[in-house]
Amino acid sequence: MKSLDLKLSSKSSDYQILIGKNLLADKSHLTSVIQGNQVFIVSNDTVAPLYLASLKSGLESFECHVFLLNDGEQHKSFENYHKILNAMLEAGLRRNATLIALGGGVVGDMAGFAAATYQRGIPFIQIPTTLLSQVDSSVGGKTAVNHPLGKNMIGAFHQPCRVITDIDTLETLPDREFKAGLAEIIKAALLYDANFFEWLEACASEILSHEENALITMIERSCAIKAEIVGLDEKEQGVRAWLNLGHTFGHAIERCLGYGELLHGEAVAIGMVMAAEYAEASGLLCQGDVTRIQSLIARLGLPSTLAGYEKRLTHNDLVSAMMLDKKNVDADLTLILPKSIGEVTIKHSVKSQDVEQYLKRNLESLVA
Ligand SMILES: NC(=O)c1ccc[n+]([C@@H]2O[C@H](COP(=O)([O-])OP(=O)(O)OC[C@H]3O[C@@H](n4cnc5c(N)ncnc54)[C@H](O)[C@@H]3O)[C@@H](O)[C@H]2O)c1
Repeated sequence: MKSLDLKLSSKSSDYQILIGKNLLADKSHLTSVIQGNQVFIVSNDTVAPLYLASLKSGLESFECHVFLLNDGEQHKSFENYHKILNAMLEAGLRRNATLIALGGGVVGDMAGFAAATYQRGIPFIQIPTTLLSQVDSSVGGKTAVNHPLGKNMIGAFHQPCRVITDIDTLETLPDREFKAGLAEIIKAALLYDANFFEWLEACASEILSHEENALITMIERSCAIKAEIVGLDEKEQGVRAWLNLGHTFGHAIERCLGYGELLHGEAVAIGMVMAAEYAEASGLLCQGDVTRIQSLIARLGLPSTLAGYEKRLTHNDLVSAMMLDKKNVDADLTLILPKSIGEVTIKHSVKSQDVEQYLKRNLESLVA
């Protein structure tokens, strides 16, 4: 088992991320951070049949309540958040009760927001069960629900008191979801750590065959990178924006194709290649690095181009969607662009016309 300490500016909210095999079975990882004697578990109807019994066994001495959500991003709603709070109130949870989120990013974000707001905040533990949630959403304390007018529009920063990542849960995760999680790992390497990027290139086959050491190493390194960046900028005033590498293009692709067509990680993978190509066209990045980025993404089984979608997308629509990005500070775009493997820069005042021209060339090259 690996243990990682996430250090935040207010020392009281530092916490540990545990990563290893068979961690759900060893209840000491949980009981050492549970404060009161009440536990409220939030999960969903896909994950609960797989892992709830194993989580609950050994917690018999606690007053244990369970709330199950329906599976899916469409259920990450204010209405369901309200239902969780109702259930917490009906259960008579006190302020020292501990909420446990068992599931992927949807469960983690919703449960985290419920924990952040119930009686102005109660402790919560994340048990992330998708690769994406293990390396991304469970680290950093962002919690949220969606609003019909925008994703993650209602939320709060609330750090968990522990994250327990049991890699055995990845064995039941659909392969496409596993690969979508790899996109965020490639992103972490690309933006921060050239050696880790090289390691991913060298270990692609071990990763794809779920080799234990490879999984633990890559999850730990990705969490460490995110933790370091979050530690520098907990409330996203500066460098935390680096974590959006590939996301401005990726979100625009998701929005224009309609949510659900591509998984978020798949759109981010294409978005990272676009950010790299745009950086190369702007004289920031060398062609050799663009090729390495594209090759690693393809080797890890992710899409690296919009091939197959080119007839359903236009450069105008994509750029209009990019203009909605929260990072933009004026009429121009703000982009996170790679300068080399392992280093990024925040580019403000990028002219939308320039990005539009790049997108036009990109889409035309796929039609030709
Ligand atoms: N808070 C943050 O910082 C942050 C960062 C990135 C993403 N997010 C959020 O995370 C969400 C996406 O998370 P996700 O990709 O984990 O999606 P998800 O939670 O929808 O999980 C994907 C699918 O896998 C299933 N699943 C989960 N664990 C499983 C397992 N072990 N075996 C079998 N099936 C399993 C889920 O039920 C679901 O069907 C989005 O809502 C996004 O906004 C938050």
